[in-house]
Amino acid sequence: MGTDCVIRIEPQEKEVTGKEGETVLEALMREFYGREGRTGFYGCRRGGCGACKMQVVSGEVNHDSTYSRAALTDEERTRGYILACRSRLQTNIVIRIPKRKSRLGRYRIFDLDQHESHQSVGGVDNG
Ligand code: FES
Repeated sequence: MGTDCVIRIEPQEKEVTGKEGETVLEALMREFYGREGRTGFYGCRRGGCGACKMQVVSGEVNHDSTYSRAALTDEERTRGYILACRSRLQTNIVIRIPKRKSRLGRYRIFDLDQHESHQSVGGVDNG
């Protein structure tokens, strides 16, 4: 593992420090998993389910080519989406984590909004 890489999460404006070469998911889980007794994340962690899909707004990751195209389409890749479990940090990055609905709801990643309940920035709250 190399130097520190900062992961900035928008719009919540949270920052997590990871290590170059570590997956984005490993860094995020270290920060959020189990906080306040809640399970922060569960998913396949091998590119199969799409639970860790998020968008890189800026910065670079090394995205492994081994993952399910059902979990992340080529079109999504061109729009900057990644699977965090398949992406190794190379630089500081800025990410956006989409909200989950429907049958993948059980794969909720990070309850960031619960930490920021006073701050509703452009999000759609469907209850
Ligand atoms: S955790 Fe399943 S694709 Fe990343």
